[in-house]
Amino acid sequence: MKSTSNKNVFVSKVGAILAAAGSAVGLGNVWRFPTEAGEHGGAAFILIYVLFMLLLGVPIMVTEFAIGRHGGSDVSGAFEKMSGGKKGWRWMGMIPVVSGFLVLSYYAVVAGWTLYYAFEALMNGFAGKTAMEFQTDFVAFSSDSLHPVFWTAIIIALTCGIVALGVQKGIERGSKIMMPLLFVFIVVLVGCSLSLPNAHQGLQFLFYPDFSKVNGSVILSAMGQAFFSLSVGLGCLCTYACYFRKDVDLMKDGLSVAGIDTLVALLSGLIVFPAVYSIPGLRPDAGPSLVFVTLPNVFQQVFGGIPVLAYSFSLIFYLLLVMAALTSSISMLEMSAAYFHKNLRLPRPLAAVVVSVVCMLFATFCSWSFGDWADVRIFGMGFFDLFDFLVAKLIMPVGGMLMCFFLGWVVDKRVLRAELTNGGTLRSPLYPVFRFIIRYFAPVCILLILVNELGLFAFLM
Ligand code: ALA
Repeated sequence: MKSTSNKNVFVSKVGAILAAAGSAVGLGNVWRFPTEAGEHGGAAFILIYVLFMLLLGVPIMVTEFAIGRHGGSDVSGAFEKMSGGKKGWRWMGMIPVVSGFLVLSYYAVVAGWTLYYAFEALMNGFAGKTAMEFQTDFVAFSSDSLHPVFWTAIIIALTCGIVALGVQKGIERGSKIMMPLLFVFIVVLVGCSLSLPNAHQGLQFLFYPDFSKVNGSVILSAMGQAFFSLSVGLGCLCTYACYFRKDVDLMKDGLSVAGIDTLVALLSGLIVFPAVYSIPGLRPDAGPSLVFVTLPNVFQQVFGGIPVLAYSFSLIFYLLLVMAALTSSISMLEMSAAYFHKNLRLPRPLAAVVVSVVCMLFATFCSWSFGDWADVRIFGMGFFDLFDFLVAKLIMPVGGMLMCFFLGWVVDKRVLRAELTNGGTLRSPLYPVFRFIIRYFAPVCILLILVNELGLFAFLM
């Protein structure tokens, strides 16, 4: 492991991969993936999702890596630098800054729920509850004015603390501790879940594709899930790549991060679906409440006879969610905080606090949209849904498309090749495929899907 005196660089290659994988692996894998796979028919959805990961997710991720690392420590100036000094492209550096505020503001709300559930599990608060009680308690908790806001504040404070510590002591060290722990938790939970009665039905749901269930909405959801899960298009990965060493192989790292992310998603499926099928009558398509209503109930029912197992399984599961959420939320906060720190010259801890305070305000609005502010509508959506829409349906695809267009059509191809081959020192057999995807396939594909998704087809026809 080489050391570096520059505090704004990840010390090791492993640290760089783990930090980027930490940004990718999150609630999207452990909460959103089983929810989406459950609602869209299981294996067929998963196959399409993996295809999108490979054909769009990885190339956009490598695009972000190339732009970020070329920019050095300044992501907002990276676009100008990579375009060969064309000032007109500088505005794209604001994508990560704005995205950081938006995404953390609603992500932290769900992360706060996971922290509360971890606390409840620790205090043995699930013992003896009925299915109906899990349902009513979740609704009562998530719609309360103060309770969920309190747990969201703790998540934001923890995130702020890690980011304030800096690139090496905070982000890299935090990822190196949390990511291996996350894997240990997952392996333990998969082992337990597979030993439950009817586990084979869960496996069948996950791995036996039924293509009759595939329609336009399944395809769109699979693409949205691939983007969300990899955190592409927002600029998280661009921001982290600013801290990559010059000898990091960007293509290889992109594939490794996508591999880790997909593995965690599939393993989460292996935890959730065998557990759901272990109780006759429960369905895997419960939607977003799967993890907060269905699963705690399952844990109590299947392990109820052995209280220590019910206790441990629940606690480890919610700790896993908290950790996955934290490794992603630090990359979200870093996007905006890095700008305040480097461009507006605020000390790093102050920059982290300023962004955290603003996010906390928006997060409070998002949380209230489940309760007191349920009737407050903007474009027909509550705050939480609006932020989710802006991030997952607009910024991620549009950001990804713009970045591909920028790298494929604006940047000098010699600069791009030099970045991907580390100045000609690496072989890059996938380079022609990568360039074709970012120039043609990705922009066209995303544009079509986006137009369709936003209902513009209906408007134009
Ligand atoms: N990629 C992050 C997640 O999966 C946003 O949660």
